[in-house]
Amino acid sequence: MKVLGLHKDPWHNTGASVITEENGVVSFSNLAEERVDRKKDSRRFPLLSTMACMKELGVENFSDFDAVVMDYIIDKNDYRSDSNKITSSQYNFLNDIDPAKIHSVNHHLAHAYSVFYSSKFEKSAILIVDGRGSDRETQSLFIADKEEGIRLIESTDKIGIGLLYAAVTIKIGFAILQEGKTMGLAPYGQHVNKKFLTFPKEYKGVATDYGSICIENSYDMTIEHPPIVTFEDKARVAFEVQEECEAAMLHLAQYAKDKTGLDNLCISGGVALNSVANYKVLQAGIFKDVFINPAASDTGISLGAALYGFHTILNQPKKYTEISPYLGPTYDDAEIKKAIKKYSGFKLVDHGAFEVAAKMIADNKILGFVHGRSEMGPRALGNRSIIMSPLKAENKDILNARVKFREEFRPFAPSILREYAEDYYVIDRESPYMLFVPLVKEDKKDIIKAVTHVDGTGRLQTVTKEFNGKYYDLIESFYKATGVPVLLNTSFNVAGEPIVESPEDAIKCFLKTDIDALLIEDYLLIKE
Ligand SMILES: [Fe+2]
Repeated sequence: MKVLGLHKDPWHNTGASVITEENGVVSFSNLAEERVDRKKDSRRFPLLSTMACMKELGVENFSDFDAVVMDYIIDKNDYRSDSNKITSSQYNFLNDIDPAKIHSVNHHLAHAYSVFYSSKFEKSAILIVDGRGSDRETQSLFIADKEEGIRLIESTDKIGIGLLYAAVTIKIGFAILQEGKTMGLAPYGQHVNKKFLTFPKEYKGVATDYGSICIENSYDMTIEHPPIVTFEDKARVAFEVQEECEAAMLHLAQYAKDKTGLDNLCISGGVALNSVANYKVLQAGIFKDVFINPAASDTGISLGAALYGFHTILNQPKKYTEISPYLGPTYDDAEIKKAIKKYSGFKLVDHGAFEVAAKMIADNKILGFVHGRSEMGPRALGNRSIIMSPLKAENKDILNARVKFREEFRPFAPSILREYAEDYYVIDRESPYMLFVPLVKEDKKDIIKAVTHVDGTGRLQTVTKEFNGKYYDLIESFYKATGVPVLLNTSFNVAGEPIVESPEDAIKCFLKTDIDALLIEDYLLIKE
């Protein structure tokens, strides 16, 4: 059984996923096109990512697939051209596939499949909150059951919190798809004594309607407000929209609870990357458990489409408990050696490399850390990461100046050994995907200064040996050297570029920045 899931042009974050089933073993691969075509938020037809996913799982021909599923825009029968009706030669491989095997899935439903089937839940309410879906939906509520599948309860096409957040992000002066910057800026506006925006509280069912202040089909707003000029002004505006986002998400969670009566909630869609709002939903205790897949943005759509094909079109039961986030291609030893040989300007350590790398982190050096298959979604979860000690406050500025070249107000995230999470953070469960932002415990704030945001929080990743053994060992080495079980983890890229994918991408990024050393599997490259 072989299924291909696609998220294609013209939406951002195109990509592919493949699911295979052989003798009861279900295998997954997923890759965003940006990781291979090296264009951030790529809109290209996902040809390169499809080929990489096929290679990973040993699928040789496009005609081998039992089903090919993609999300659609407006016209679900028109899969060969994009919404501008432009047919591209890159679509050719669809011509090699029997049209009877090609299926469409609603965008929000694909989000719902991606999150529910990668959770451990038997039953769950699912909220999808993003810009707009296939039929112009903005916010949807589904109900899911492992045996019975996923069913839509209600959706709305009213302008929702995703479009409002995007419009305000542009008003602040950031670009489209930079909502994460607004979220990072928001805490700086908390105590600014000025009011800019007033939002209509038109919450009804699954709608939080901002139609009275946002202009359809644009990111423009009709709302009157004082000029937004200074850093403080911008921070205050960011704070106001973040506060509204949290209120909207709490309303949606309560509504989902009232409608389904279930204990578990899954959230997906771009707004589910707002880990501050997610944590507020978790803390409110409306649901016993809340799960968010790391590919909550449209990078998860191809996985959701493939899961829809596997479970619903091909009627396969769920035989796995959850889906690992590490679904990128594998690079073998020969490929890594070949990439290393191509470049110079570093000393190579190939014996005891891991131990040397761990010591360098304890010595406050910057380490590029690449191993295993890359993680899906926009956050680095320890396989394509830049790692540094969290102990010195200035490490934040050092990383920004020497490697990341990004705004100084943006926080860096902590990874912690799972068993110490409750000692350092106000949280009572694991947070493996950096999708909750809890408060740092008062007595720990001064210890992990580089990963504690201005409001005393951290976008937490808890790490277990089972989840990521090599990353666990790295954090544990740091713990043994310093007594602190926490590392700073930021994505391995520079501003404006996608996260590195191949060993060669990692070496190139290492050489053009001021990263001190790069560990690729068991090879350590140290700058000369
Ligand atoms: Fe989406």
